[in-house]
Amino acid sequence: MSTAVEPLLRVTDLSVTYGVPRKGVGLGTGAALRGANLEVYPGEIVGIIGETGSGKTTLARATVGLTAPASGSIEFEGRDLTGLRGRELRNFRRQGRIQLVFQDPLRSLDPDLTVARLVAEPLEVAGGIDAATRAERADRALREVGLEPEVVRERRPRELSGGQRQRVSLARAIVTEPRLLICDEPVSALDVSNRNLVLNLLDRLRRDLGVAVVIIAHDLSSLAGIGDRVAVFYRSRLVEQGNLREVLTRPAHPYTALLVASAPSLGDESVLRPADIRVDRDDAGPVHSGGCVFADRCRFAVDACATRPALREVGERWSAACHLADRWRDDVIDNIRPVSTGTLTKGDR
Ligand SMILES: Nc1ncnc2c1ncn2[C@@H]1O[C@H](COP(=O)(O)OP(=O)(O)OP(=O)(O)O)[C@@H](O)[C@H]1O
Ligand SMILES: [Mg+2]
Repeated sequence: MSTAVEPLLRVTDLSVTYGVPRKGVGLGTGAALRGANLEVYPGEIVGIIGETGSGKTTLARATVGLTAPASGSIEFEGRDLTGLRGRELRNFRRQGRIQLVFQDPLRSLDPDLTVARLVAEPLEVAGGIDAATRAERADRALREVGLEPEVVRERRPRELSGGQRQRVSLARAIVTEPRLLICDEPVSALDVSNRNLVLNLLDRLRRDLGVAVVIIAHDLSSLAGIGDRVAVFYRSRLVEQGNLREVLTRPAHPYTALLVASAPSLGDESVLRPADIRVDRDDAGPVHSGGCVFADRCRFAVDACATRPALREVGERWSAACHLADRWRDDVIDNIRPVSTGTLTKGDR
């Protein structure tokens, strides 16, 4: 892909604050996302990785317009979505150009509706499509995700397996022919074989429909083999974003290195193993409220880390929020073994 291609989605300095009820003091506020940046290019698969509570779902909800950001901007197909209000926002959402597949398919699907209704519903909401066409497109979407319409059409969510429910959620999301599909932890609740089926399915949808896919996950192993790029979040902040293979091979942020080293299976040669590198320290370091979010756990922290590192470029479409990005990599990673990028290629799965 040439660098001249404009991103489909560009999230810039996005912050989201929820009102948090606190005992005795009424409504306090909690920042769920702080200054997040994300770029998604047409037809690519981007992973968003981060521990629980790091703001991944919040970012997804804000991107589809379900949660209003406190500041920052969301541009989609060159259009600023953060400026949309009321009817404009509803119209945009109805078109289904960006679709979100929710984290918990059982809770997000209306238990009283049949699969046929569930999958056709987004088209009803979009309006202007007759019932026969809606039913036909719903059937097509079901086939697209590997379900037989004749078998599942009349069932309700309870009458499906977890993997089938996940597919129904996906069918519902692709029925509007979105340009961007955001899947919130699509595989976390599935066993290994269903995991691979769903990931391969997402890869195929990207190829067949040209849709860009964001996959939210806890760990990097959910992406190995299919992701093009990755964004790593820690404590509500983006710490690193770049080409998946490059990031796995030579992470620019120590927190990413920690994730890479602790991931169960990422291929072998090109990635760090826990024995190769110690990123975290034995005892907690000082917490600097305005400083790097990882400094208290980071073995390489220096005085400068008391000041928050800005996200800066460390390569092509590759950025990291670490003062020492280049230095610690040169000192630590490059001394471990020669860099090889041979293993994590697409289609390994
Ligand atoms: N509706 C809400 N009201 C108040 N706080 C919220 C709300 N939703 C999320 N939060 C808080 O915002 C922060 C980020 O939550 P979010 O759900 O985005 O995290 P996440 O990365 O998706 O976590 P997980 O991996 O567990 O799904 C957390 O501290 C969470 O407690
Ligand atoms: Mg979440």
